[in-house]
Amino acid sequence: MINVLFLGAPGSGKGTQSENIIRDYGVIQISTGDILRKAVKDGSALGKEAKNYMTQGLLVPDSLIVGVMSERLKGGDAKNGFILDGFPRTVVQAEALDEMLEKDLKYRLTHVISLEVPDELIYERITGRRSCPACGRVYHLKFNPPREAGICNFDGEKLICRDDDTEAALSKRLKVFHESTAIIKPLYEKRGIVLSLDGAAEPSDVYSKIKAFLDS
Ligand code: AP5
Repeated sequence: MINVLFLGAPGSGKGTQSENIIRDYGVIQISTGDILRKAVKDGSALGKEAKNYMTQGLLVPDSLIVGVMSERLKGGDAKNGFILDGFPRTVVQAEALDEMLEKDLKYRLTHVISLEVPDELIYERITGRRSCPACGRVYHLKFNPPREAGICNFDGEKLICRDDDTEAALSKRLKVFHESTAIIKPLYEKRGIVLSLDGAAEPSDVYSKIKAFLDS
């Protein structure tokens, strides 16, 4: 069974590669970004608290997201394997995750995949990204266009641009990534479970390497 953690800057391809792993390994993806965007759309208390942070490109407070993840991981659907996409993002969250997995849930991370993409490439990726509001699948106007412009290949929904995919929010998201998230990678390197990949390569080449790692 695989329990995967993705590390990588905004737009590095975590969501894109998660789709491939879900298809081939039958695991679930737990994306904190998707959970928070749904909460904002539903107008829940969590969404109301998270919205401002997200639109500005800032992290929501650790206490809030740790509570959300602790509940989410208790769902029985994680027992057949999972992908964590977007959590942990700080040292506090990484420590909380260890505690949740080892003490409460008896799960173990098996693979950590770090997608490395230079900041200069991220801007084009994020400004060209389009997402399906129904199924969450991710497209790109140039690198991964849908078959019919503006429409999801799978469910025919109209594709949207995310509220935080603006240049102003993105520069904050990148700053936060370099200051708070990139520094957690060594915690996992010490355990010998990290694969660092050139995330600027073709998506299919990135995935071949991921698959070889997961099958090894
Ligand atoms: P979140 O939704 O997690 O956003 P993110 O980490 O910024 O990541 P993205 O979803 O933007 O990018 P991705 O790596 O998935 O890239 P994708 O595959 O789409 O978080 C959003 C916000 O929620 C945060 O800013 C924060 O406010 C809050 N939040 C979430 N988790 C939190 C936490 N733990 N703590 C506190 N706050 C939290 O690819 C991008 C584009 O590039 C796509 O268009 C894709 O088609 C294209 N593409 C992908 N791969 C390639 C390739 N190899 N070549 C060319 N194009 C490619």
